[in-house]
Amino acid sequence: MSGTTNGSVTISLDGTNQSLKLPLLAGTIGPSVADIRKLYGNLGIFTFDPGYGETASCESKITYIDGDQGVLLYRGYPIEELAEYASFIEVAYLLLSGELPNAAQLKDFDAGVRNHTMLHEQLRRFFEGFRRDAHPMAVLCGVVGALSAFYHDSLDITNPEHRRISAFRLIAKVPTIAAWTYKYAIGQPFMYPRNDLSYAENFLYMMNAVPAEPYKVNPVLAAAMDRILTLHADHEQNASTSTVRLAGSTGANPFACIAAGIASLWGPAHGGANEAVLRMLSEIGHVKAIPEFISKVKDRNSHVRLMGFGHRVYKNYDPRAKIMQRTCHEVLDELGIKDDPLLDLAVELEKIALEDDYFVSRKLYPNVDFYSGIILKAMGFPTSMFTVLFAVARTVGWISQWQEMIEDPSQRIGRPRQLYTGPTQRSYLPIEKRA
Ligand code: SDX
Repeated sequence: MSGTTNGSVTISLDGTNQSLKLPLLAGTIGPSVADIRKLYGNLGIFTFDPGYGETASCESKITYIDGDQGVLLYRGYPIEELAEYASFIEVAYLLLSGELPNAAQLKDFDAGVRNHTMLHEQLRRFFEGFRRDAHPMAVLCGVVGALSAFYHDSLDITNPEHRRISAFRLIAKVPTIAAWTYKYAIGQPFMYPRNDLSYAENFLYMMNAVPAEPYKVNPVLAAAMDRILTLHADHEQNASTSTVRLAGSTGANPFACIAAGIASLWGPAHGGANEAVLRMLSEIGHVKAIPEFISKVKDRNSHVRLMGFGHRVYKNYDPRAKIMQRTCHEVLDELGIKDDPLLDLAVELEKIALEDDYFVSRKLYPNVDFYSGIILKAMGFPTSMFTVLFAVARTVGWISQWQEMIEDPSQRIGRPRQLYTGPTQRSYLPIEKRA
């Protein structure tokens, strides 16, 4: 634990003379934390925080978010600078190692990833077990989980070399599996990865090329894809990262842990939101229909949410959303799409929402998912592939967080407690005596 004690907070039980002084641990930036590890042993009580909105589950040096200021740092570097100046592979190295690579380190790391992009040939047959209309996230989750059936030489999580090779294999193979889930769904042949292409170029190549003719990746779209991957790479202890950490805390192998993260990311409240935003925009259909939709959102009984808006941590604009909006215009310009009705609708919807007290009072702003779907649709991705792309990017964040957890000497198996409100102890009643 490298947080420093920075005073204390005392909890006392009303009506008793029991109290406990809890150490306050300070990090480098951000709120201090009250160390409650001795709370139950001294006062016989737990804390209660469904959804862990106010609970630090771990110490981490990877990503820092200031939700009030709309700040996102990867290993201390602002997301705006990394999105502007760094490649995704550079960012992947930074998240994994903690420092930006020098030229030799970047070349070596990039080569390591490029040389692990192929899949074991037998993995191709896994795809044939799925229906062609299976959701790509179901296929991605299944095939990534199956990787642990193929790589027995990298399952010892206590071995740093096994952890290193597993990191390369997952970062390199998930894009191949992702692209193949799409090719399988549309009945086209799988395109093998090419070592002469960059990470983003290779992914677009495997998604769009066919064996019948040469395919040249559009450099503007490759640059946009590379930036989108950077924006989605990591995000502190979000639901899917916490899932990976919890799975990893039991000693499960990294392939199984990443498959668990993919499953968690799939939910519409999390990574599935980009797909839900497109569906929402299509359902609204026209700018004129926005007021009616907004009134539905404000009606609690409708259970309708403005997808792509709101965030557990950001109570200001998600810095990634701003960069996404700019990238949206670049991609549409490159593709010669002058007026994309979905983008026009999204911009108008955002404008109206940001002036409406319901959203302003709840500090609901666009998050990373609000514009991503529009870009991806314009680039030719089907809506069902949006969350798959999010998973491709987040794999490096999941691995970095998993690695940090495994190497943390204070790490224990994750095992939350509960507030029990069920029946008190009672005896079994023979069936003839039941009402
Ligand atoms: C991601 O955690 C991460 O870091 C995730 C992520 C990452 O990179 O890993 O950033 C990626 O998951 C982004 C979020 C994508 N999800 C969506 O866009 C789905 C729509 N948004 C929400 O469902 C919601 O905002 C959450 C789930 C993102 C956050 O929910 P919270 O923090 O639990 O907030 P809440 O549900 O307690 O809402 C507080 C209030 C409620 O109203 P009241 O009960 O106070 O009257 O705000 C309302 C909510 O009803 N509200 C919304 C809303 N989000 C919250 N109302 C309408 N539309 C919304 N989108």
